[in-house]
Amino acid sequence: FYGSVINPETLTSYKASSNTLLALSPQGNVEWIAHDIQDSMVQETLLQNGCIDAEVVALKEGQFIIPGFIDTHTHAPQLPNIGLGAQYELLDWLDNITFPMEAKFSDDKFAEAAYSEIVRRIINAGTTTCCYYGSLHLGSTKVLANIVQSLGQRAFVGKCNMDRNAPDYYREDSPETSLQDTKSLIEHIRSLDTGPSGIPLVRPIVTPRFAISCSNPLLSHLGDLVSSDPSLHIQTHVSENKSEIEFTKSLFPECGSYADVYDKFKLLRRNTILAHAVHLEDEEVALIKERQAGISHCPTSNFHLNSGVAPVGKYLDKGIKVGLGTDVSGGYSPSILNAIRNASIASKIRAMQPDTGSLGPFGNKQLSVASLLYLATLGGAQVCDLEDRVGSFSPGKSFDALVVDVRTSMGNPALWGSDSGVAGTKDLDTMLERFLYCGDDRNISMVYVQGKRIGGASR
Ligand code: GUN
Ligand code: FE
Repeated sequence: FYGSVINPETLTSYKASSNTLLALSPQGNVEWIAHDIQDSMVQETLLQNGCIDAEVVALKEGQFIIPGFIDTHTHAPQLPNIGLGAQYELLDWLDNITFPMEAKFSDDKFAEAAYSEIVRRIINAGTTTCCYYGSLHLGSTKVLANIVQSLGQRAFVGKCNMDRNAPDYYREDSPETSLQDTKSLIEHIRSLDTGPSGIPLVRPIVTPRFAISCSNPLLSHLGDLVSSDPSLHIQTHVSENKSEIEFTKSLFPECGSYADVYDKFKLLRRNTILAHAVHLEDEEVALIKERQAGISHCPTSNFHLNSGVAPVGKYLDKGIKVGLGTDVSGGYSPSILNAIRNASIASKIRAMQPDTGSLGPFGNKQLSVASLLYLATLGGAQVCDLEDRVGSFSPGKSFDALVVDVRTSMGNPALWGSDSGVAGTKDLDTMLERFLYCGDDRNISMVYVQGKRIGGASR
């Protein structure tokens, strides 16, 4: 690829460079990156690096490459409900909106049709790595994993474990069947073809829905399962809504806090993804940090279901891993761009609170463009324990990337004002900012995972 590249570096910085040459290996990994290469030097630079017969994709003015987005939390079987239910808070929303829809995924044929469309839509929104909750069904969650695999997205796929506090029509029979189905799904996903890279794109993830929906024996089984296999990822919800927290504490009086429930059952560790974390107590923040678990910040959902405004700046100040989640259909958009915008608003609301003076550098101010880009990419990679593979461009990492084109639907960049010719890096800053705040699927021309094009708006 030859053109403009924007590469996240830290929570406060990214590198924007035009005239960049980025080379891929046949396996789809980044091989090397060369900056400041003039047009006339492209062929020579390729030859110097031993690239004979390389096919060069030359980006146009108004186009740039960024790492693909990482959605650290979404529910595939809730997509058909998108946009519905804002009149409810979490527990009533589950009963009235969510469980009835998820129950329909008992039908594998329905799941096949729905998931094909859903995964395609999420890919075209620019999500190259996605952490999916399926329904509780083994059959349809296998279907989801197969579809993700065949469409070429990188993902974690789990089936919900839920054997209590859910309606009869949508609850597992026993902790044993829940465990058995979980093991079968793990086996199925691990048997999928890894393709030419030798790296599995789809991985299993153990998914106790939340503490409320799992009996003690079920949590024990799942804790034993993950203890026997440290490579298994875990995803669940934590401290989303005040009524949920109160109910959780009443179910687990022996545990000091909501997060402590997961810790007591050996489910809180480096590869655990905790969604929401809106109302954590200080001891829980310390425990999560200690266990090196990651937080999926789902601001759209936190607003939509009236859950609250997560103090993400505080978590960043503490050095806790944070990524973004769409949490469809608690969140009403499958696009991480939407999560970015609501994360920005959430950070402004927190910064307007009167007590922010005592907080650290992230706790007391709005998230910058660099921070938002970081959360959507490298931050998410850390939360998924995949930072060695995705989230930014560097030699050896996978080429999971978006070609963004701001010429579509955002007006002509040449008319953006005095400083917005499209060549310089200052203009790249402008293009990035605009894309994050007002871009959409139309601006995501090409979506690549592991060097292979899997979607995007351009034909
Ligand atoms: N807690 C338990 N299940 C869910 C879910 O499906 N969505 C959200 N937002 N929170 C949950
Ligand atoms: Fe969720």
